[in-house]
Amino acid sequence: MDIIQQAQSIVEGATLEEKLKPLKYTEINKTQVSFFIDNPGRNKNINFSSKQLKFPAKNKLATIEGAGIALHFFANHELLAIEMMAMAILKYPLQGEAGDHFRKGMISTIRDEQKHFTLYNQRMESLGIEFGDLPVNDFFWKQIHDCPTIESFHAMMSLTFESANLDFAYYYKGIFKDCEDFETANILEIVLEDELRHVAAGWNYLNDFSTKSKKDIWDHYLSLLPGKITPARAKGINFNCELRKRAGLNSHFINKIKNYKSDFNITNRNSWDSK
Ligand SMILES: [Fe+2]
Ligand SMILES: [Fe+2]
Repeated sequence: MDIIQQAQSIVEGATLEEKLKPLKYTEINKTQVSFFIDNPGRNKNINFSSKQLKFPAKNKLATIEGAGIALHFFANHELLAIEMMAMAILKYPLQGEAGDHFRKGMISTIRDEQKHFTLYNQRMESLGIEFGDLPVNDFFWKQIHDCPTIESFHAMMSLTFESANLDFAYYYKGIFKDCEDFETANILEIVLEDELRHVAAGWNYLNDFSTKSKKDIWDHYLSLLPGKITPARAKGINFNCELRKRAGLNSHFINKIKNYKSDFNITNRNSWDSK
């Protein structure tokens, strides 16, 4: 299978086995045509649900049930990331060296997300919860509909959702440590280190464009975000400047994010919920 067929199998495949199959890089010989499907394939037991599940309160994370539910949220975010990155390979055909570079980057990120899903899933199973036991939502997935270009995808995915995950991973790592759940804390540490690379990749992509076109990167980022997404979604709990510096973001951009206010961050942001 070439890389297009492998990405298609991740997006359209209905089983976890298909979603977690390791990707192998191959060059594309024929001209690629943009491909997009409204919803990823998912078996009935792991399919999107309109049922709302609340992320457990901080004081519940010390319980087996609370930790299990939190891990189920985390695992779904990873699975969505796997599917969205694979969808990006299919949605944005790009020829030549630039195309190979883009797809290589996506493959390496998908491998990380597959590792994250597996780590969360194994930990969750050891606590007695199986992936699919709880409802999962499609909020993140739906936003890819409104990303017409690779740049807009990076702005939304790396510089917004994954950027917020830096704060969340750091915050929940601390909470699980306090609960003496070192296994879960350790997984969050691994995820955090990888996510720094993912945020850096998106930053480098946008920064290159801004430097070449002499555009302000913040203005450029704002112009790329899908309509329903604001920079407030690029922040988790306890905004962490140091982590963003480690991902290579410059202080101008970090300060803009830090000081950004919208209705969303004032009313909604108190847990790793996606809505
Ligand atoms: Fe991840
Ligand atoms: Fe990621």
